[in-house]
Amino acid sequence: MNADTFNELPSHVWPTHARRQEDGVVTIAGVPLPEIVEEYGSPAFVIDEADFRCRCRTMAEAFGGADHVHYAAKAFLTRAVARWVDEEGLCLDVASDNELQIALAAEFPAERIAAHGNNKTVEFLRRCVERGVGRIVLDSFQEIERLGAVAEQAGVVQPVLVRVKPGIEAHTHEFIATAHEDQKFGFSLASGSALKAAREVLEHPHLRLVGLHCHVGSQVFDAEGFSQAAERVLGLLGTILSELGSLHPGGREGLAQQLSTLDLGGGYGIAYLAQEQPLDVAAVAADLLAKVAAQAEELALPTPTVMVEPGRAIAGPSTVTVYTVGTVKDVHVGDDRVRRYLSVDGGMSDNIRPALYGAQYDARVVSRFVDGDPVESRVVGSHCESGDILIENAHFPNDIEPGDILAIPATGAYCYAMSSRYNAFGRPPVIVVSSGKARVMLRRETVEDLLALEAE
Ligand code: LLP
Repeated sequence: MNADTFNELPSHVWPTHARRQEDGVVTIAGVPLPEIVEEYGSPAFVIDEADFRCRCRTMAEAFGGADHVHYAAKAFLTRAVARWVDEEGLCLDVASDNELQIALAAEFPAERIAAHGNNKTVEFLRRCVERGVGRIVLDSFQEIERLGAVAEQAGVVQPVLVRVKPGIEAHTHEFIATAHEDQKFGFSLASGSALKAAREVLEHPHLRLVGLHCHVGSQVFDAEGFSQAAERVLGLLGTILSELGSLHPGGREGLAQQLSTLDLGGGYGIAYLAQEQPLDVAAVAADLLAKVAAQAEELALPTPTVMVEPGRAIAGPSTVTVYTVGTVKDVHVGDDRVRRYLSVDGGMSDNIRPALYGAQYDARVVSRFVDGDPVESRVVGSHCESGDILIENAHFPNDIEPGDILAIPATGAYCYAMSSRYNAFGRPPVIVVSSGKARVMLRRETVEDLLALEAE
């Protein structure tokens, strides 16, 4: 590692429109990051709008149409984001009543929304039904009953998918793997509960089963996980048709036409570090679509429409978080070993992922060129907790000083979304950059905002 490395912006990790100018300052979409800090303060999230939109299109192309892709709102959602997703023609996946309400406030068409969650409230289910949400993904027997009652009350027939737990191990962090048996989501395929759920839905006059859903996990790189899951869920579709076809007035054929959706969830892995490579979504999609078509033919089924729900792969790489370095401290950690602690003005409140999942990130000084020698370093936040670490173990040049602006790339997914107000930090603003201009998407939370919540 040398000074050059520390000045490079690996293009597979940074937003597409990030550049380092001749004076060493980094711009995104033509906007210098130090100017953003001057105007809006730090820390701040900076999102490259064109990058986000372009990733929507790449997903749509890979999976054969924008209406085959649901952007997973949980990764990052505001009304503006919902409008971008709508303008790009994608569908939207929401996982709470408030996510749904944000989407609806942006006038996102309800019929292109899918609703998720393992314990949806009745209010959420009611809003989905009343507003005409396109699909509700069922996750438990109680929910089949609850939603059935809500739909009956509303006098509608609600389209639904049954979420299947296909029983495979996704190779990712335990907390974000969701297809193995011993976790909370979905109906188990192996135990027969997925088939039983399908029967209950098919027998309910106010529910219309339109397909099956599964999600293997998040930040997945092993494409085998996706195709194994697809194979098992499609196998179940075949079983449903042969065992439950008689419940449909059109028999097996009629039911086959109705169960036209195979939703395989999200999980497409991105690169956080220069030495990582993002999953090649186009290749994975082509392989997956071919395998599904071949298996459907074998099972004598019409080829289902494969839907996906990427969140991270769309939002993640579009965004960087800018911080100002406040202190630089050398800490003796062994006989002759020193570790340099670079403290920045945010931390685990704006990015809990390193503390929660051991997620690894990288950073660059974006206010100038650096040319120091690499020293063992740790980038830490400003919270009252020693686990408040953003980058645990890396080398950074030894000329980084207080006042330098540091940016961590690939923070667009699950950082703002999982942010907290620990130590009464207000959440940072989210600044959109596009064609040389910056604008505020979300303003910074102030102490007045926090005090305004207090009832006494
Ligand atoms: N669909 C379903 C049903 C999901 O549960 C998820 C993510 C997605 C789609 C989107 O997955 P993606 O394409 O973004 O990987 N907070 C964690 C990630 C949790 C993901 C939860 N579900 C993190 O920061 O890594």
